[in-house]
Amino acid sequence: EKLILNGRLMDRENASIDIEDRGYQFGDGIYEVVRVYHGRLFTNELHLNRLFLSAEKLSLRIPYTAQELTAQLEKLVEANGVGTGIVYLQFTRGAAKRKHHFPEKSETTYVAYTSELDRPLEKMKKGVKAVLSEDIRWLRCDIKSLNLLGNVLAKQKAVENGCYEAIQHRGETVTEGSSSNVFIVKNDELATHPATNLILNGITRQVLLDICRKQGIPVREEAFTVDDLLGADEVFITSTTSEVMPIVQIDGKMVGDGAPGAVTRKLQHAFEREIN
Ligand code: PDD
Repeated sequence: EKLILNGRLMDRENASIDIEDRGYQFGDGIYEVVRVYHGRLFTNELHLNRLFLSAEKLSLRIPYTAQELTAQLEKLVEANGVGTGIVYLQFTRGAAKRKHHFPEKSETTYVAYTSELDRPLEKMKKGVKAVLSEDIRWLRCDIKSLNLLGNVLAKQKAVENGCYEAIQHRGETVTEGSSSNVFIVKNDELATHPATNLILNGITRQVLLDICRKQGIPVREEAFTVDDLLGADEVFITSTTSEVMPIVQIDGKMVGDGAPGAVTRKLQHAFEREIN
């Protein structure tokens, strides 16, 4: 099993990180999860774009170009023989004596590793359950930061309730899942929260919006309420690992007729064509 530490391909056992790394102590860093299908990186450019945006928002230096990173990640996927899986990459502000403010001198710590991960085909076919959860996160959810405690607590609530995902809301407004974006369908029209500071602008979300534009399916990038969610004909979430995942129950109440809807299935098929 190989990984990349600061640009070097090495065995996982030989990698070590300083205990005063700011990622470890402060969550002072950013990450991406990129899908691997057929041994190839999927929508890698979009992920790296977002990575550089996150870095800029936190004044974090990434000492590589997108081209250099892509070449490294491709080498890693090949070295580990990943067919269907993910690449996880993270950058932190590096190791320095523990003080909250940015250190005067620190080198970015960069780690990338791979993991085999099947597509959740069975769940995508049947749909999954969700719980509602108040969104208690900070106001820069647009940054893909390592600070994930709000997300962790939301997902834990989902798991404790036998659910796949937690759908978060700030008061009446639905924002996003704990690790996914949320779409509703009402009268064959889609809606999803706009890409503001309150959500992560998901790459799968962007791919889906693109599919909708091409197919002439109307989408409103507008905030909707918990009532809109519960009254929707169809609900689905999107993410790198979950693709287009139908939500068929929320807080024990059926969505539509309790089965994945026609629009959701159509979009699943369209997404499937993108990855093949
Ligand atoms: N999660 N919103 C949040 C809060 C997320 O953590 C994610 C992704 C998404 C969907 O983004 P994308 O389509 O780019 O994966 C939305 C990743 C997969 C994770 O943390 O594992």
